[in-house]
Amino acid sequence: MWATVPRVKFFNGHEIPLIGLGTYLTKGTAGVKAIKQAIDIGYRHIDTAYRYGNEQDVGRAVRDKLEEGFVKREDLFITTKLWNSFHSPEHVEKAFHRSLENLNLNYVDLYLMHMPMGLAFRGYEEQELISYDSSGRVVCSDVDFCDTWKAMEQLVYAGKVRSIGVSNFNSSQLSRLLSVSSIKPATNQIECNPGFTQKPLIEFCRKLDITVTAFSPMGRANRSDSSSQVTANVLTDPEVATLGAKYGKSNAQVVLRYLIDIGTIPVPKPSNRCEMLENIDIFDFRLTAEEKALMDRFDNGKRAVPLKYYSHHRDYPF
Ligand SMILES: NC(=O)c1ccc[n+]([C@@H]2O[C@H](COP(=O)([O-])OP(=O)(O)OC[C@H]3O[C@@H](n4cnc5c(N)ncnc54)[C@H](OP(=O)(O)O)[C@@H]3O)[C@@H](O)[C@H]2O)c1
Repeated sequence: MWATVPRVKFFNGHEIPLIGLGTYLTKGTAGVKAIKQAIDIGYRHIDTAYRYGNEQDVGRAVRDKLEEGFVKREDLFITTKLWNSFHSPEHVEKAFHRSLENLNLNYVDLYLMHMPMGLAFRGYEEQELISYDSSGRVVCSDVDFCDTWKAMEQLVYAGKVRSIGVSNFNSSQLSRLLSVSSIKPATNQIECNPGFTQKPLIEFCRKLDITVTAFSPMGRANRSDSSSQVTANVLTDPEVATLGAKYGKSNAQVVLRYLIDIGTIPVPKPSNRCEMLENIDIFDFRLTAEEKALMDRFDNGKRAVPLKYYSHHRDYPF
């Protein structure tokens, strides 16, 4: 193992590694290879979702590494997510078991409600996960996310999930959830990158002892599905390069260190082995207050992932 990653404790005592491997678009044979490579390098926290269509690939990679005896199950932290069209309580357990089967595991460490927005249920196949009406709009459901949450709590009581959490929730949605829940969310997985830090929401979660996981920490740099170029620009910014040079780090490493220093757990998606190595090598330095202030200047309040196609939903969080 090349890198040891510090862990942080959830309110319930379970620990999550401070950096994870994002896997959106990591699929197929190349995906399995990349995930195994990541485990070899030292990644122990893997972020997947039913919607990514790659749970089987994550499961294959994890199974291979377990069978090799390279890691033990208890050393790994596997997150997956309940898709929006499975919000009805009667679908939650079924959908979860599909994920568990795909992953070929006995339990997952963290199960997240992918979004607060329920969608119409059509089935479990990839082409059934989102349906559109005649005017091309996504078809919503009116399931209350509090009811979805109560069904997710049952998975914890059944010992199938260590911790449950949410994703893309705003502060009032979190407050409403807390008012009915018997188990608090362990994390809120939200977009967080230098272009869009969401510091007030991080602070709101911190006060409630709910961790924040930072998705799209690189702002989906250089990808066509990003709505903001700000973080991509940070990755080539000369001032950030000078800051990084002081510690022998790249701009990307400064970005990830910054996100940890402001209180989040980033799950970057590397495109190659070099990025994979870089993204985990960030635990031997810390930014000063002035350096954090320099990074703060990039926040222009613009999301890279605005989820616009759900903007007509009653529970659209943004
Ligand atoms: N809960 C949710 O709703 C949600 C939403 C989005 C994402 N996520 C999770 O968060 C993960 C990460 O987010 P993301 O996939 O949207 O994008 P991201 O991690 O913000 O960006 C990925 C891009 O960043 C660049 N990158 C990564 N490491 C780098 C490095 N060391 N140096 C330079 N560039 C680097 C790569 O660009 P190049 O290809 O140009 O090298 C890569 O394509 C996802 O994979 C998924 O697991 C969750």
